[in-house]
Amino acid sequence: MRKEFFIIGAGLFILSLLAHFLFKTSLLIAIFIFILLIIGIFNSLQHKHAILRNFPVLGYFRYAFEEIAPEIQQYFIERTTDGKPFSRNERSLAYQRAKNLSSTTPFGTQLDINTSSYEGLKHSIFPAHVNEELPRIIIGGPDCSQPYSASLLNISAMSFGSLSVNAIMALNKGAQKGNFYHNTGEGGLTAYHLQGGDICWQIGTGYFGCRNDEGNFDAEKFKEKANLPSVKLIEIKLSQGAKPGHGGVLPASKNTEEIAKIRGVKPHIAILSPPCHTAFNSPKGLVEFIAQLRKLANGKPIGFKLCIGQTNEFEAICQEMIDQNCFPDFITVDGAEGGTGAAPLEFADGVGMPLEPALIFVNKTLIRLNIREKVRIICSGKIISGHAILKAIALGADLCNSARGFMFSLGCIQALRCNTNNCPVGVATQDKMLIKGLSVSDKFERVYHFHKNTLYAANELLAAAGKTSYEDVDVSIFMRGDEFTHLSDLYFPDNLSNVTKH
Ligand SMILES: Cc1cc2nc3c(=O)[nH]c(=O)nc-3n(C[C@H](O)[C@H](O)[C@H](O)COP(=O)(O)O)c2cc1C
Repeated sequence: MRKEFFIIGAGLFILSLLAHFLFKTSLLIAIFIFILLIIGIFNSLQHKHAILRNFPVLGYFRYAFEEIAPEIQQYFIERTTDGKPFSRNERSLAYQRAKNLSSTTPFGTQLDINTSSYEGLKHSIFPAHVNEELPRIIIGGPDCSQPYSASLLNISAMSFGSLSVNAIMALNKGAQKGNFYHNTGEGGLTAYHLQGGDICWQIGTGYFGCRNDEGNFDAEKFKEKANLPSVKLIEIKLSQGAKPGHGGVLPASKNTEEIAKIRGVKPHIAILSPPCHTAFNSPKGLVEFIAQLRKLANGKPIGFKLCIGQTNEFEAICQEMIDQNCFPDFITVDGAEGGTGAAPLEFADGVGMPLEPALIFVNKTLIRLNIREKVRIICSGKIISGHAILKAIALGADLCNSARGFMFSLGCIQALRCNTNNCPVGVATQDKMLIKGLSVSDKFERVYHFHKNTLYAANELLAAAGKTSYEDVDVSIFMRGDEFTHLSDLYFPDNLSNVTKH
């Protein structure tokens, strides 16, 4: 192709020059072709990009199309029921609820519900009255002296760094208005988180905000922040579903001077938190660390977040809690389908247990060891609707967190650019120009409405099942498509019947 390019290019250049001199056509055409020829010569001599070496100018089209492939996919190809990780219908639901618009759907379901994967609620012939009050639940086990009354739905961990300053402020103000908590993520607790909303302060392996010069845990710094009135809960991050076994990743382009200062690291370089903690390296150490944090935080609820991998390790942690008679106030179970700002594809696509089996396993293990009453189970993993909340509760959760649901409420369009600093709506970027587009005063209202309307939808479903309390929810109120499509006479397999909380 190179040979053809230069022959045709040179020919066109000569023709355009002749046309200029003979017929007085514009010289610009000849200049344009000359520039293309120079670019072509440069590309055919470089060794980095084979496509440009072989197709010196046409090769650029490949890069251009690759760049806009997500937009082409979303605007022209995607149907309402597909689109990944969230379908257009799911995203629209979150937008409508955030804007406090009617979230009804016309004409009937677009899903093929005659399939084995259908999961429907078994409604009651005698529905209950819908509770107008949004549900709450107390977090605080036997060793906790400052229990916290939490909403059933809260903002999952997302750091300042991963998200923009305006996004963090809008989330926190929304949390304040709606009386639910906002998890800081592992990037540390900053002034932008202190807008009045309740805080769950997350401590990751980088100990940002409570680290010493060597990057290890600093008890004094922790104590200072943990005792701020806004901090209601403290979460030790062991792992997250999108990249379990891998530490946090802050791309260099998002590591600004301000963020680097907050985290105590160098700016403009990629920040990779280590995959494991330095404060402990065993179940025994973890449980001792929980006790240490609880003491430093004057009895505030302490928990840990993890994605389940090797189940025997989780069992060992539970056994250690019993041996030390020290229990976390909550355990956050994150499904492998969870989101992230940036993760290696191998980790995002192929490590960790999805939420459903993980939740069943954690709930079942705590029941088997007779410690379920001491620990609250929080869960996260694509929980953006009332149906998802009810299903999570049925499988053993006490309350839920949502990360990407709240991102949608801030205006996230699923552009899939969180790892590039080019988020077009100013949610997951540190680009000042893009951040300006996100108005805190408008978006915090949307955060508030998304929370309220989603929980109200859960209340409506609860009532449709004939229940008045989330305490009464278990898997018996759900049906699966494979039960009737395959004419199975079993309503839920036996191995799930002992999963229920009571
Ligand atoms: C942009 C972004 C940043 C995140 N940062 C963190 C973090 O700092 N710490 C953490 O434990 N999880 C983090 N997560 C994971 C979420 O807290 C949550 O566990 C996961 O996305 C599942 O919830 P979702 O399906 O509602 O998004 C992040 C997720 C996203 C999308």
